[in-house]
Amino acid sequence: MSTDTAENLREQVRERYAEAARAVEAGGGCGCGSGSCCENENASADFGESLYSAEQRGELPDAAALASLGCGNPTAVAELKEGEVVLDLGSGGGIDVILSAKRVGPSGTAYGLDMTDEMLALARKNAAQAGVGNVHFLKGVIEEIPLPADSIDVVISNCVINLSADKAAVLAEMARVLKPGGRLGISDVVAEDHLSPAERAERGSHVGCIAGALSKGEYIAGLEAAGFEQVSVEVTHEVADAMHGAIVKAVKAEQPETKGLPLVEAATSAGCC
Ligand SMILES: C[S@@+](CC[C@H](N)C(=O)[O-])C[C@H]1O[C@@H](n2cnc3c(N)ncnc32)[C@H](O)[C@@H]1O
Repeated sequence: MSTDTAENLREQVRERYAEAARAVEAGGGCGCGSGSCCENENASADFGESLYSAEQRGELPDAAALASLGCGNPTAVAELKEGEVVLDLGSGGGIDVILSAKRVGPSGTAYGLDMTDEMLALARKNAAQAGVGNVHFLKGVIEEIPLPADSIDVVISNCVINLSADKAAVLAEMARVLKPGGRLGISDVVAEDHLSPAERAERGSHVGCIAGALSKGEYIAGLEAAGFEQVSVEVTHEVADAMHGAIVKAVKAEQPETKGLPLVEAATSAGCC
């Protein structure tokens, strides 16, 4: 994809989610059509706060739950422990950062990274309302994470990687910031392997979290090439024909092998993304 097209796509995503944050601030749900942003008229979607347990929703300010635009619940699969450092890629209104901050406790830290100012403002407000102090919301893009190498125990993300125009860079960045032995617990939309990119695009838009989804095989190959082990992609619910909400898990190898290539090149040459 040309840099121009990738930048254009990123701008469309930013506008869509800025609008969503403004709609939540105005007291509504996502302002991008009916229901959540990660959804459109072609998708029989299951997105948003309904994917969290009543107990988890009870731990959150109403605005944080209302701002939930994910396609899963990464905090339910990441098995967070006291004292860990967690990073949420594309943290939106902050729902998963707040829940993670509570799991890791005061001796741990939860970072949220997002590129949209309106979402960062909403997340900071929600975290203050939730009374969690061990959180930091950073402005930046997931293709270039503004954190040092080997600094994170767990990377989580909820319905964001499909929105990236450079997924190989995202996978490589996750591998860079994780400590050796660190892990991923990600929710994302995943296509069945037989669907071509054109067939994915027929089922929904890029900003609606459908057209940009990786296939299961592409996810696995990309993660392995970026230096991850124990990679698994488990589908949970259908969001469009032959496309699913999925849980992606992996562990960063103690000594990552990237086939002798720089991380981004390794992921790209593995057929990702
Ligand atoms: C579908 S929403 C999901 C928000 C949140 N994870 C949740 O579950 O509610 C996508 C979020 O990712 C952010 N985002 C999308 N692409 C991004 C990128 N390349 N870098 C940083 N943030 C990005 C958007 O601004 C938006 O807040």
